[in-house]
Amino acid sequence: MKFQAIELPNGKYSSPNPSIKVFLLTITIVLLTMVPLSLISDSHSSYRIPKTNISILKSIELEKKCDIFSGNWVSDPKGPYYTNATCHLIIDQQNCMKFGRPDTEFLKWRWKPDDCKLPRFNGTQFLELVKGKSMAFVGDSVGRNQMQSLLCLLADVAYPKDVSLKYTSDINFKRWFYPDYSFTLATFWSPFLVKARDADPSGHSYNSLMNLYLDEVDTAWSAQIENFDYVIISAGQWFFRPLVFYENGQVVGCSNYQQRKIVDLTIYYGYRKAFRTAFRTLQNLKEYKGVTFLRTFSPSHFENGEWNKGGNCVRTKPFTNEEIRLDGYIMELFLTQMEEFKTSEEKGNKRHLQFGLLDTTEIMLRRPHGHPNNYGHSLHKNVTINDCVHWCLPGPIDTWNELLFYQLMKEAQASVREKLQKFV
Ligand SMILES: *[C@@H]1O[C@H](CO)[C@@H](O)[C@H](O)[C@H]1NC(C)=O
Ligand SMILES: *[C@@H]1O[C@H](CO)[C@@H](O)[C@H](O)[C@H]1NC(C)=O
Ligand SMILES: *[C@@H]1O[C@H](CO)[C@@H](O)[C@H](O)[C@H]1NC(C)=O
Ligand SMILES: *[C@@H]1O[C@H](CO)[C@@H](O)[C@H](O)[C@H]1NC(C)=O
Repeated sequence: MKFQAIELPNGKYSSPNPSIKVFLLTITIVLLTMVPLSLISDSHSSYRIPKTNISILKSIELEKKCDIFSGNWVSDPKGPYYTNATCHLIIDQQNCMKFGRPDTEFLKWRWKPDDCKLPRFNGTQFLELVKGKSMAFVGDSVGRNQMQSLLCLLADVAYPKDVSLKYTSDINFKRWFYPDYSFTLATFWSPFLVKARDADPSGHSYNSLMNLYLDEVDTAWSAQIENFDYVIISAGQWFFRPLVFYENGQVVGCSNYQQRKIVDLTIYYGYRKAFRTAFRTLQNLKEYKGVTFLRTFSPSHFENGEWNKGGNCVRTKPFTNEEIRLDGYIMELFLTQMEEFKTSEEKGNKRHLQFGLLDTTEIMLRRPHGHPNNYGHSLHKNVTINDCVHWCLPGPIDTWNELLFYQLMKEAQASVREKLQKFV
């Protein structure tokens, strides 16, 4: 595949020599059993202090170097982690089974990386890893979709308290708190990441014109993000609407807007600048010490017509590698955000900021049957439009949190190892 030609940023997780890494891992495990915890959580360290439960790290089997994003969907007779009966937090928009989706085969696939096994999600272990920490999903409703999947994946261990009202009554900004783990989960709705304003004379609709202020971050999230430990950034479908771009307060161009006076800079221009501004904002927050994750572009799967002209998604099986490949505009958007992420990572590493990737684009491209189509219900939305953008719960989006779980383990292990090296 073409996109593998670029170096994927996995930062501190990568090591030039796999055998050295295995060796270090071995040392780490030996040391973990010897070094008292008080040494590891040395509060004078300039690095982040891992509050991580060491016994959890020991219980999770370490993999050798593995690209978890390169692999295949394989059939999994075990089926999903939860159902709408075991998780009561599934919203109607994504509760496909409740609204009569007849096929269940889409629930029986697991992501299998080529070179290793993706560990099954374990809510206890996840919550131990994030104990005392906070995690924010920043983006549009697909970002929220992932948070909702996470709520359900954790539901067999703990239900959170909804503490949103302490902060706002706007339902697009949610905060959940897990008292037993002192873990905060939040979602900040910011579909463009940057400041945006409606600009359509006929009002807001699915495809109305908006102004984007590409060099001004959306303070709806940035003003509250500084103390979060994990920030998962994403953005996608909203960039397809007609947009006028502003920089320095001046119109600089547009995208998808037939106005001869304004130069069309393309969707990629706006997408790039929005991510640049979002990442730069995090870098510049003095107190920010979080791990910044990019969750890459999530493809939609409209077929048999455009999204607003009767398009739907009625397949029941994944695409094979031969049937579909990452290319065209999806590839372009993916590469655009990856370039911005990589640049940000290089700068951020100088500040000891950490970065993580959830490269879900190609993985999800192969799951055209994972969307609600017409089996999701939203009170306020035009139900004549099929939903081939969001993902059913349970469904393939649960994999994003398996990938997140894996990355958190890697991050925790790397961070403990880094500390231990100081004492060797
Ligand atoms: C670590 O995790 C284990 C397994 O869940 C739990 O029994 C133990 O109490 C935890 N220890 C600490 C110090 O939190
Ligand atoms: C769960 O899904 C079933 C169909 O599988 C449906 O009959 C039921 O109403 C749903 N329950 C809830 C609480 O969503
Ligand atoms: C999850 O992890 C905990 C702690 O390591 C373990 O006790 C438990 O059996 C695991 N659960 C599953 C379903 O594997
Ligand atoms: C709903 O969508 C259809 C198809 O695009 C459109 O014809 C109709 O006007 C829309 N209705 C409302 C209330 O927005």
